[in-house]
Amino acid sequence: MPSTTNRNLLAIVLSSSLLPFTLGNAVAYEKGDIIIRAGAATVSPRDDSDPINVAGITTLKGAGVNSNTQLGLTISYMATPKIALELLLATPFTHDVSVKDTDIMAGKATQLPPTITVMYHFANPSAKFQPYLGAGINYTVFIDEDVDSDLNRALEGIINPALGTSLTMDAKLELESSIGLALHAGFDYQITDKWMVNAGLWMIDIDTEATIKTQAANVSFDVEIDPFVYMIGLAHKF
Ligand code: NI
Repeated sequence: MPSTTNRNLLAIVLSSSLLPFTLGNAVAYEKGDIIIRAGAATVSPRDDSDPINVAGITTLKGAGVNSNTQLGLTISYMATPKIALELLLATPFTHDVSVKDTDIMAGKATQLPPTITVMYHFANPSAKFQPYLGAGINYTVFIDEDVDSDLNRALEGIINPALGTSLTMDAKLELESSIGLALHAGFDYQITDKWMVNAGLWMIDIDTEATIKTQAANVSFDVEIDPFVYMIGLAHKF
């Protein structure tokens, strides 16, 4: 009997030590794991803007904000096998801004939307398919705002006749930074021990105040950008 026991023991030791190589076993998220996800990230605004009252002369319908795609990167830390803390980073997003219901280009706004969420993984930590849900905080900072010549011409057309001036407009656009709630959903699907495909979706509350400054007057109005951010790419476990 001892010899059988020893052989069984040997078999267990051998098989367990070979397991990672032979089976390429499941993801098995563990406390302390760091997961980096990278891919194409798109910010798709569901924007809603207050009207733009131009110096009491006329009212434009508001600003529209277009979507933009950049390189997205997230860094996750597994605080437990099921709970992660994640930071979303990206190269700066540049959005075309237009005057709603017109073909007037207002300009461009470039922003960075770093977002921290706490994610909960539903599946068994060793499952190949790892869906997660999370919530957290977004900080959006506008780093560059440009006014299009279209808007300058339009402002001249509105302001000059009304004020009896002949100003050449050189308007400036400023957008206030925003702090808001972020909801997050996504999944990893394991393809090797360390590599996974990933898809993630964020719903972010981004509310800003826009100010157009001209020589004649400054105009401020609220803009809700409230985008969906989606990212598709690869994930790597470290
Ligand atoms: Ni909002």
